[in-house]
Amino acid sequence: MKTEFIKQLNQSKTIEESLRFLAENVSGKIVFSTSFGIEDQLITDAVFTQNLNNIEVFTLDTGRLFQETYSTWHKTELQYNKHIKTYYPQANTLESFINEKGINPFYESQELRKQCCHIRKVEPLQGALKGAAVWITGLRAEHSPNRNTLEILQWDEQYQLYKFNPLLHWTTEEVKQYVAQKGIPYNVLHDKGFISIGCAPCTRAIKEGEDFRAGRWWWEDASKKECGLHR
Ligand code: ADX
Ligand code: SF4
Repeated sequence: MKTEFIKQLNQSKTIEESLRFLAENVSGKIVFSTSFGIEDQLITDAVFTQNLNNIEVFTLDTGRLFQETYSTWHKTELQYNKHIKTYYPQANTLESFINEKGINPFYESQELRKQCCHIRKVEPLQGALKGAAVWITGLRAEHSPNRNTLEILQWDEQYQLYKFNPLLHWTTEEVKQYVAQKGIPYNVLHDKGFISIGCAPCTRAIKEGEDFRAGRWWWEDASKKECGLHR
């Protein structure tokens, strides 16, 4: 599928065209994960405005998102009159973890931080990707050096599906311009110095000149800043 598929995708001129091509030519289940970041909002707009109903738009609610993120979520559902499928952590697992380790254990060690990410994000993701043939993400290469090695369409060995990262080579400026032009709703935190937005206790704004991921798990070694959603 890959060579022919990429050829066809390259002939697609816009994000709308490439997503429509995907929706019309993949027979298996297609899912798109949104964290309501600005790039995800752009993809959501392309899916919802074209009524690509065989692309399931889903989010992983960690329970620790910013209020502004929940507002973006709500605004998006209202604006497009669509529902975004939601996956939650296993209540029992989360309950045991918090009762044992406390409410904010992620600042104590990287091991606990990764455990929290595993329970709140990775396990629910496994459920969301079950049976999917293609997983669409809003990953961008600019966000971190290890994302530079990604491809727009790549086979994901771990989940045994194709991962499609249509905005991989878009710049922040291009994303912002597109969103402004089309009046796409976005998280107001992006206007306050936030580039990459995850959970509230683990995300801060960045200063000019700082690395894009400097605001994520800022107390940790920069080389290990992944939560396990993407490897
Ligand atoms: S993370 O691995 O560090 O958390 P990041 O915030 O850069 O990921 O987002 C990259 C992509 O991962 C998003 O475009 C989205 O597809 C997916 N993603 C991240 N967080 C979530 C979430 N909470 N729910 C659904 N998808 C998410
Ligand atoms: Fe837990 Fe922070 Fe990971 Fe969110 S980003 S799941 S709060 S450690």
